[in-house]
Amino acid sequence: MAEKQHKYDAGKILLDVSRAVNSSLDPDEVGRIVLRESRKAMGSDHASLFLVDDKSGHFILAGADGFSEDEMDNIKLLSGWEMINDHLLKNKESLVVNDVHKDAIFKDEKLPSSGEEFPMESFLAVPLETRGKVVGALMISNRERPGHAFTDEDKDLLMAMSNNIAIALLNARLYSRMKNLFLSTITSLTRAIDAKDSYTSGHSERVMKYAVAIGKEMKFDEEFLENLRLSSLLHDIGKIGVKESILMKPAKLLGYERRQMRMHPSIGARIIETMDDSRIIQRGILEHHERFDGKGYPNHLKGEQISIEARIISVADVFDALTTDRPYQQGDLRDKVFQKIKDEASSQFDPRVVSAFVDSYNKNPDIWNC
Ligand SMILES: [Fe+2]
Repeated sequence: MAEKQHKYDAGKILLDVSRAVNSSLDPDEVGRIVLRESRKAMGSDHASLFLVDDKSGHFILAGADGFSEDEMDNIKLLSGWEMINDHLLKNKESLVVNDVHKDAIFKDEKLPSSGEEFPMESFLAVPLETRGKVVGALMISNRERPGHAFTDEDKDLLMAMSNNIAIALLNARLYSRMKNLFLSTITSLTRAIDAKDSYTSGHSERVMKYAVAIGKEMKFDEEFLENLRLSSLLHDIGKIGVKESILMKPAKLLGYERRQMRMHPSIGARIIETMDDSRIIQRGILEHHERFDGKGYPNHLKGEQISIEARIISVADVFDALTTDRPYQQGDLRDKVFQKIKDEASSQFDPRVVSAFVDSYNKNPDIWNC
């Protein structure tokens, strides 16, 4: 008798799915990959991903693939369905329904709240479980068509995939939480520094927003933007080592006071030294007062000797300083500053960065107008 032919090359599928879902640490991106890969692996019409909401302890729809817009509204309602929650979340069991109109449980049921029919003929749902805890559920489903029913082999494969998917989702979520915690801790620190300075509050956060807008306009990737976000937020952290009497002085600084003030980039770079992988962030901080023509400080670097992060932060920093450090803003101040930065291309600033600043300023006035 011939050996039973398997529909799948399970080993290859598991390896491909594992590679794909672990290729990103962005929770939204991981969610999109999970939907795409599970649909592709199972050859199904749709896939939907539910995650457990920490507050309510219920599933919420995190994404779906293959549905029409109307159907999407109905899929959202599935997460409020107690019997699905109970089965997957409490009992931690998979659920296979091969004909919703004939199924003992589902045949008389309409979707909660809407009373609509199920937007699928058959579905297979598995809990996403890691370390004994269900973090979500993955559902693949088919419209009515030949071969829409799911087999035991389908179930085994999706169950095997689910462990990897759960770990990838959890990792991305943890990473994102750690990143947000880190960023909010640093933001609190920079607020304290901004409060010591004569700038209006929120300078560092605005510089970060402007720098990232320029970086995006220059089409840098997310990894670059991540470093830029940190170095722009921390660019003035060295002011922690400058006396308040100098930082707050309302009059022009004397020679020795200016020398003290001009030490803040070096002090900042030293503070950041202990952070892991801090080299790029450090350069953004150390070089943010260098000038493209070599007349800046502390090291009189010139042109592309200055890191691109610092060249971007420099434009963002000057734009914010000039648009916020005076008690009464004139109506056309922003336009004057805009012109001034354009005029300083190639002398104070990198002309490529100024050009991206001009494009961003024209395309996204909301970013630059607060
Ligand atoms: Fe500075």
